[in-house]
Amino acid sequence: MMSKFPITFSMKHFLVVSLALNVSLILRIIYDNEDGPSKYMGLKKTTMSQYDAKSRREVSIIHHLRLSASTLANSSTCSDHPEDRDRIINLDHGDPKMYEKFWRKMGDKSTITIPGWQSISYFSDITNICWFLEPELAKEVVRLHNVVGNAVTKGRYIVVGTGSSQLILAAFYALSPPDAPEPISVLSASPYYSSYPSMTDFQKSGLYKWGGDAKSFDKDGPYIELVTSPNNPDGHTRQPVVNRSDGILIHDLAYYWPHYTPISSPSDHDITLFTVSKSTGHAGMRIGWALVKDQEVAKRMTKFIELNTIGVSKDSQLRAAKVLKLVSDSTEQENTQELSFFNYSYEIMEQRWKQLRASAEANGLFTLPNFPTEFCTFFNKETENLPAFAWMKCEKDIEDCQSFLGEHKIMSRGGKHFGVSQRYVRVSMLDTDENFNLFIDRLSAMQI
Ligand SMILES: Cc1ncc(COP(=O)(O)O)c(C=O)c1O
Ligand SMILES: *[C@@H]1O[C@H](CO)[C@@H](O)[C@H](O)[C@H]1NC(C)=O
Ligand SMILES: *[C@@H]1O[C@H](CO)[C@@H](O)[C@H](O)[C@H]1NC(C)=O
Ligand SMILES: *[C@@H]1O[C@H](CO)[C@@H](O)[C@H](O)[C@H]1NC(C)=O
Ligand SMILES: *[C@@H]1O[C@H](CO)[C@@H](O)[C@H](O)[C@H]1NC(C)=O
Repeated sequence: MMSKFPITFSMKHFLVVSLALNVSLILRIIYDNEDGPSKYMGLKKTTMSQYDAKSRREVSIIHHLRLSASTLANSSTCSDHPEDRDRIINLDHGDPKMYEKFWRKMGDKSTITIPGWQSISYFSDITNICWFLEPELAKEVVRLHNVVGNAVTKGRYIVVGTGSSQLILAAFYALSPPDAPEPISVLSASPYYSSYPSMTDFQKSGLYKWGGDAKSFDKDGPYIELVTSPNNPDGHTRQPVVNRSDGILIHDLAYYWPHYTPISSPSDHDITLFTVSKSTGHAGMRIGWALVKDQEVAKRMTKFIELNTIGVSKDSQLRAAKVLKLVSDSTEQENTQELSFFNYSYEIMEQRWKQLRASAEANGLFTLPNFPTEFCTFFNKETENLPAFAWMKCEKDIEDCQSFLGEHKIMSRGGKHFGVSQRYVRVSMLDTDENFNLFIDRLSAMQI
């Protein structure tokens, strides 16, 4: 009896330590990912890398363990009772938490139940080139594009991916010449999405290689250009830049939705990528899709995913189908009392951009990109460009904008990650109301 307590205690203790150790190891593994949670945990890259030496491995693990345990403890208390003045706000990632309120309101209408016997097989539809694509998701993808008018789906193959991130890699694989003497260059015009360079070079592929800013590309031979429109980080509508006949284009249209930008016409490209992460705000589902014109390219992209993950979670696909269906339904029932997703999300984005512009104007420390209003075929009126990120340029003699915001406990991503100067930072516009309002309060109060 006497020994029971100490044993239970040490078991518990062991569990906690083991869990913390696991968490810290996971953190370590994903640390290098641009969108990983490293900054979330309040660690600086230099702090981490100084522990990289093998001889310090044990110290490192213990150190990480302590750091991760204390930050985990902190983050849970932080969000409940924010000590607002001292709280760090993390606007580094584009984590789309602002839509949560909408989905809460939808309640059971966006809920699915998956019994234990369902979705057991690897296969979804063996008659489809993308044999792991759930027919229900394919149907809702086509329907939503038709409702919104942002993409041609006729004559396209749909390839589903674990986020559009996996599809970017699948497209690189599918588009690279298999027997070229050297890897094909992958380009994007700066400022480009900060993950492109690292995703391209992470595995040191013999097939493709990051070639830098498309605006200064001068090598002969074929290349792959990523065209991101509207662009992450700056929100501008984009066209290809290199414009050579031996170029292959991937259109990343993660943000081509009416709450971010006026829809001008249905996109109609060879390869177009979309994702639920930014459209409906379900980043955690990890579902993206590609619309692909060429059958061979669709086959090769499917092959990549087969070799990489043997398909894409069916549970997630079914959930994505449900959510996309609700978005289409809510749009088509706009005249009734129903809340339409795009109407809701547009109004929040509009409100946030108004607040941001007012506070930037008031303190004169930042400039923001300006956009003309344009006719949106979806809303059937002139609407604004309301990017998912604020691309802020520091004025006066603030040369390192990320550090400047950091001093005010605002985490952002500096220009160098996007191939430009540190005078620029990218700030997420998609966080919770609480964090966004705190951000605006701090901006408004800033002086130098
Ligand atoms: C332009 C762009 N492409 C792709 C992605 C990746 O999105 P997913 O969550 O679908 O992998 C992002 C996410 O931030 C993005 O901004
Ligand atoms: C930590 O990970 C190991 C496998 O890597 C697993 O066996 C163990 O159960 C995990 N511990 C906890 C507490 O999750
Ligand atoms: C956690 O919170 C405590 C008390 O506010 C603070 O002293 C400590 O530095 C925090 N830890 C981290 C890693 O942020
Ligand atoms: C490249 O072509 C697009 C049309 O696809 C055009 O809008 C753009 O201005 C061209 N860019 C250059 C640098 O010529
Ligand atoms: C959203 O709906 C409200 C009420 O029906 C309307 O006043 C508003 O203009 C709509 N917003 C957009 C962007 O269409």
